[in-house]
Amino acid sequence: MPWLLRAMFDFKSDRLAQEAFGLKFKNPVGLAAGFDKDGKYIEALSCLGFGFIEVGTVTPKPQGGNPKPRLFRLKKSEALINRMGFNNGGCDALAERLAKVKRGDVILGANIGKNKVTPNDKAVDDYVYCFEKLFPHVDYFVVNVSSPNTPDLRQLQDKEPLTKLLSTIQQLNLEKAVPKPVLLKIAPDLTDGQLKDIVEIVSSTGIAGIIATNTTIVRDGLKESEEEVDEIGAGGLSGAPVRSRSTTVIECIHQESKGSIPVIGVGGIFNSSHAQEKLDAGAQLVQLYTGFIYEGPSSVKKILQGLS
Ligand SMILES: Cc1cc2nc3c(=O)[nH]c(=O)nc-3n(C[C@H](O)[C@H](O)[C@H](O)COP(=O)(O)O)c2cc1C
Repeated sequence: MPWLLRAMFDFKSDRLAQEAFGLKFKNPVGLAAGFDKDGKYIEALSCLGFGFIEVGTVTPKPQGGNPKPRLFRLKKSEALINRMGFNNGGCDALAERLAKVKRGDVILGANIGKNKVTPNDKAVDDYVYCFEKLFPHVDYFVVNVSSPNTPDLRQLQDKEPLTKLLSTIQQLNLEKAVPKPVLLKIAPDLTDGQLKDIVEIVSSTGIAGIIATNTTIVRDGLKESEEEVDEIGAGGLSGAPVRSRSTTVIECIHQESKGSIPVIGVGGIFNSSHAQEKLDAGAQLVQLYTGFIYEGPSSVKKILQGLS
């Protein structure tokens, strides 16, 4: 019953419309990657007010991800720890599904990654495969090199492999009749030096922007006991504890690039003031995942009401 969902949870306001990387967004609040990895719920999610939905991370071949349990709630800290490990049905299945989807006026992004079994020196092939396969079906792409749950993936954020990866994708993109925005999603755990390098690489390769940030491997500022947190083990931490670091990363990119690189801000957004904080730091758009889990289906509407 999409009409009922829309009546309850959608929020329309012309004042919230945004243009970024040449795309027109009905509002600046999107669903972050990882929630609908296989693009199975786009029609239902698009009734909940999101201006854009990012599917994925998807990999060329289907893969099961890490053994369960792999997702944990840290309620006192308003956080999640996950080590899902890019569980997904593969890029071919996603392309088939997207070809049929009715998504109305919601902007659709595809977040692409590499299979766990693909060594880093062959990683470019995996990203190219996903890019080509999904090109006809989405509005923008995200190159994800920042998940902590695929061994060594984050090494692709280093200068040399990152330049090679982004320039390859962008070259293929520019050969298309109408190229699409390609963004890079980065970790919150990068040093200032690494962030500077990334700003330089994004500018020199000419990709459209940055998504800041993914989950963190740091465990600072948690309200749960150390034993409880240790027992959970490895994974990426999201939600309230990553909020301020992700805002700092956005500010750093904004300053370093003198505002020339569009940014999608993500990390710890639960309400409209958190969203506004990211926009004030220099983000054009925002996304949420953990806040959506904690605050429920009306969270987007409340954020949009607050922003407008
Ligand atoms: C369970 C879970 C799975 C995620 N999977 C992905 C993913 O596949 N690809 C990705 O780029 N980010 C993934 N993320 C990261 C989110 O997209 C987001 O960048 C991060 O959680 C910070 O935002 P938040 O605090 O609003 O959750 C995942 C996050 C969670 C909690």
